[in-house]
Amino acid sequence: MKKKIILTGDRPTGKLHIGHYVGSLRRRVELQNTGEFDKIYIMIADAQALTDNADNPEKIRESILNVTLDYLAAGIDPEKVTIFIQSGVPQLTELAFYYMNLVSVSRVQRNPTVKTEIKMRNFEANIPLGFFCYPVSQAADITLFHGTVVPAGEDQKPMIELTNEIVRRFNTIYGEVFDEAQILLPDNAACMRLPGTDGKAKMSKSLGNCIYLSDPAEVVEQKVKSMYTDPTHLKVSDPGHLEGNAVFTYLDAFCKDEHFAKYLPEYQNLQELKDHYTRGGLGDMKCKMFLLKIMQETLEPIRQRRAEWEQRLPEVKEILRRGTEEACRVGEETMQQVRQAMRIDYFNGEWELSK
Ligand code: TRP
Repeated sequence: MKKKIILTGDRPTGKLHIGHYVGSLRRRVELQNTGEFDKIYIMIADAQALTDNADNPEKIRESILNVTLDYLAAGIDPEKVTIFIQSGVPQLTELAFYYMNLVSVSRVQRNPTVKTEIKMRNFEANIPLGFFCYPVSQAADITLFHGTVVPAGEDQKPMIELTNEIVRRFNTIYGEVFDEAQILLPDNAACMRLPGTDGKAKMSKSLGNCIYLSDPAEVVEQKVKSMYTDPTHLKVSDPGHLEGNAVFTYLDAFCKDEHFAKYLPEYQNLQELKDHYTRGGLGDMKCKMFLLKIMQETLEPIRQRRAEWEQRLPEVKEILRRGTEEACRVGEETMQQVRQAMRIDYFNGEWELSK
């Protein structure tokens, strides 16, 4: 039977926030505990982060430790998951180099995620070539480990599509080496794209609208209390709107029925709360205080585990070192298959002139 292998990753460009948590981290912890997978890899994509941060290596370097601490704090178990650093696996670069021959420039130009990023970074006139190639390198990330399941956000969909195109081309030209991969998306729209606390499209560090997993309780409180809601909901008695209302989007992402029994027993579930809000007569602060209790309940154990791991930084580095070594071993095995398939394993076996 085909093996079920998870490969996923994050760019280390800062600490992780609750958008990362509901978008993929929480899911990864659940997946690691299902026991359904033959292998789980989480890659810290420092090489990819450098494609648009070439001038800021210190930021990437520090973020690797922060992101690893966030993983461990969120409940990733280093006994069950191999965490590794992308740049420590040179086979990834090697494979990406060959994949570049299987993809056209116009194909990458059509990638909607790359298009958005180019706009966001004002790269239009001056796209770093390495940045432009990162979707191809991401195909190498996934396939070098024979990844078949990629838990990730919707913005990664075009990368998986490209990966599978490359897999098909590779297999057609050189013989069957790789399997196609499948993306595993978050289970609801709120988790897919958690807005910032200001209600803006996406939580992002540059917009300053994030709640970080490592934010202290007081900071979370202040951020939740000042969240964007419905600007037309002026009096408590006014009917409120849910669309674009960050508090309700966060409730969609975090709230379970049991939270009502515990913190807001006048309501059975989120639908009842939403109905009351849209009818009018329910104040924003009441909703925010409910959300805050849920957030603190979720984040407190994460903060505690992080504080513990921060005291054990040498162990954290050891986890990364061992993970990266393992990734190299696995990567080298795959590259041997690849070099053989591509007929570039010159010193293994026969190599003659044709008669
Ligand atoms: N592109 C991903 C991000 O921006 C990071 C990443 C790199 C990744 N390689 C990957 C994700 C492979 C999934 C699979 O966060």
